[in-house]
Amino acid sequence: MNINELYQQAVKHQKDHDCSAYPYELGAKLVDVLERNTPTKILEIGTGMGYTAALMAVHNPRVVIETIEKDSEHAHIARRFLEKQDVGDRVQVVNELAEQYLSSLNSQYDFIFFDGYQIHYEFLPHYERLLKPGGILYLANNHLQSKTSDRFFAELQNGQRWEVVEQFADTTIACRKSA
Ligand SMILES: C[S@@+](CC[C@H](N)C(=O)[O-])C[C@H]1O[C@@H](n2cnc3c(N)ncnc32)[C@H](O)[C@@H]1O
Repeated sequence: MNINELYQQAVKHQKDHDCSAYPYELGAKLVDVLERNTPTKILEIGTGMGYTAALMAVHNPRVVIETIEKDSEHAHIARRFLEKQDVGDRVQVVNELAEQYLSSLNSQYDFIFFDGYQIHYEFLPHYERLLKPGGILYLANNHLQSKTSDRFFAELQNGQRWEVVEQFADTTIACRKSA
């Protein structure tokens, strides 16, 4: 897999489309964390044009992904892009607002990658419910503050339900503790 080649396609999309779907810059790090944790069931929030979903699917043929995207044009472009990468059968693009859709999910995931815009506290109970014990929460865009992002990080870091395993650039990685 050529990460840079996929990344450049996402950069081109953002420029041509003049939208806010800036691709995640640390794709190699994301793949490295996946390789160390070997999740097979992944939930992504913030598909954009499908770059990070493609990375996560291509790196391991056993991976299945559900990825949530609120913008219908992005969802459409992402489905085509993922088909082109031959992973369309393993990545389901859901064109919904995450705030509304997360409560309808009942599956358990090994890994959640958040790359929507601001971090909102209301997502945290869903992450706790949807991640298996020992599962990994990988949060991008930490620099985009919301009214509730401080509360989100305070609870993540208080050590009760989560262990923060790594923080770098605009990313936090946390592990869901066993109950
Ligand atoms: C930073 S881009 C994602 C980029 C993609 N992960 C990548 O690296 O190429 C953020 C995307 O999340 C979508 N998004 C933002 N907030 C969302 C929400 N609350 N629910 C669903 N999608 C959301 C935006 O429409 C946008 O396409």
